[in-house]
Amino acid sequence: MTGNEIRQKYLDFFEGKRHKVIPPAPIVPLNDPTTLFTSSGMQQLVPYLKGEPHPMGTRLVDSQPCFRSEDIPEVGDNRHTTFFEMLGNWSLGDYFKKEQLPWFFEFVTQIVGLDPARLYVSVFEGSSAASRDDQSIQIWQELFKTTAPAASNSVGFDPQVKIYTYPAAKNWWSRVGVPEKMPVGEIGGPDSELFYDFGEGLKLHEQSAFKDQSCHINCDCGRFMEVSNSVFMEYVKLEDGSFRPLPAQNVDFGGGLERLAAAASGNPDVFTTDLFTPMIQTLVQVTHASYTSPDHQQAMRIIADHLKGSIFLIDGGVTPGNKTQGYFLRRLLRRVVLKLRSLTNQPLTPTAYRQLVDSVIQTYQPVYFANLKNTQTLTDTIVTESQKFEKTMAQGLRIIHKTPADQITGQFAFDLYQSFGFPLELTEEILAEPGFKVDKAAFKAEFTKHQERSRTASQGLFKSGLADHSDAIVKYHTTTHLLHQALRQVLGSHVQQMGSNITAERLRFDFKHPQKLTDEEKKKIETLINQKIQAYLPVHKTIEAQDQALKSGALAFFREKYPDQVSVYTIGHDVNKDWYSKEICGGPHVTSTGQIGAVKIEKETAVGAGVRRIYVVLAG
Ligand code: SER
Repeated sequence: MTGNEIRQKYLDFFEGKRHKVIPPAPIVPLNDPTTLFTSSGMQQLVPYLKGEPHPMGTRLVDSQPCFRSEDIPEVGDNRHTTFFEMLGNWSLGDYFKKEQLPWFFEFVTQIVGLDPARLYVSVFEGSSAASRDDQSIQIWQELFKTTAPAASNSVGFDPQVKIYTYPAAKNWWSRVGVPEKMPVGEIGGPDSELFYDFGEGLKLHEQSAFKDQSCHINCDCGRFMEVSNSVFMEYVKLEDGSFRPLPAQNVDFGGGLERLAAAASGNPDVFTTDLFTPMIQTLVQVTHASYTSPDHQQAMRIIADHLKGSIFLIDGGVTPGNKTQGYFLRRLLRRVVLKLRSLTNQPLTPTAYRQLVDSVIQTYQPVYFANLKNTQTLTDTIVTESQKFEKTMAQGLRIIHKTPADQITGQFAFDLYQSFGFPLELTEEILAEPGFKVDKAAFKAEFTKHQERSRTASQGLFKSGLADHSDAIVKYHTTTHLLHQALRQVLGSHVQQMGSNITAERLRFDFKHPQKLTDEEKKKIETLINQKIQAYLPVHKTIEAQDQALKSGALAFFREKYPDQVSVYTIGHDVNKDWYSKEICGGPHVTSTGQIGAVKIEKETAVGAGVRRIYVVLAG
């Protein structure tokens, strides 16, 4: 069964179990200042896991495009990717362990057809935060009782034992990891992972860096692949460091689509599944390199993953830059250029890039790029960034290779970054190649200094993101709605939201408008927003059918797909008539505009053809 088939079968299977299919969240989350990317399916569901009712009910399912920037250095082996799709199903206080585990087991064994003899699971062994997950152990015991044990093997791994317990480091899930790391108010719980055994025959363990250690299901040799995680999201962290049960026991399931596809094919290499093959084939065509050659394989995997991730990010509104999301996109594309250089001496032509982009779109089109008119803009962004780097890359590399080892200092690496646009991580990677002696301590010192600086630039983000619902953020959320409406009122209804971003210090809003705003227009917009603030307009939340909400004039963001039932925020004295602003939105918002105080337009700039960017700050 292919990856594309597994995605559909999974949605169908859980629809059959009375789940509602919800649209995935945008890959760049809107208005969440604490996270750069959507890196798990549950991210958009946090308020609902905490107890707020979801417009679509208590059983939800989706497939979520995810991007994990922290995995950039891992890419190159058979299974790590920065971009991946996470199959997700959720119970919001509805079913729990005794439904979740058997359902997923049924899905993988009956629908995908994985041999139960090749499946293993891990379960939480217990800690001071929560006790051992005996209930899951019991359920798995029942499920495995009916299946045959795997053939005996010689790596010291007992095939009769299917269930292994691990501490929180492996079997507790929260967006920041183990219970001790969770901030107050964060949710988490014990989890149970499912592993697929590719078997001894492939000699993955013997050929790996782990060959001298004994193999186990969590071993990194590649023989066992973690394909899914059922999180029993039942706790919230309290001020005193203890854990309180959430209002309801939730299930948060995440399954790696690419990995399931690999398991279904019996080949542990996710890059040989249908989710990658059109791209790998095109890459072979345009570079004349061979995917099976040990000299080329790692580079080809990195290029395929990074280009695919870049395409999803660009489609999600990211442009290459030096900060936040743009920095990661730049890092991906520059690494692609560097790795391409190891396959071919010629820079790729724009036509070759276009073919690569087309191969990705072709793989995902019906599911994720249905509205994409053509691939030219995507290709142009990639080609422009690549050409910019190609110009200086050769020069930078020459300098690296000519520099004596004792002069490869932290300052040297930083200069390369400044002068030639080598992201520090890329320089580190080049310098780490065999034959180069790196002044590691000095490099590290400069590197750490830089990281401190870039951490500040990227707002000290949690790797998977925690929604910040501080006062200022909530005020900026509501101000964004007032601004959107005021822009339309003053400039015209052609104004359409193109993106937005909120930090605790300001809001940023991108919108369609052909020219620079005049001082008079800016004044009018600012005055209008402040009048609406001073009018203490109430803010109401309602749940409505999506088409009804749009018919009644609610604004929506074209980059976001909405479910059939949506939450709508209306600002005004009456939700049916006499309202000032109405938008489909997940919130949160103030309850009265008066709480915002006052605002000021800080600046207005261009961000592209026909797109303007405005910054607004709280002023009172
Ligand atoms: N949230 C869990 C994960 O990301 C399961 O969905 O693995």
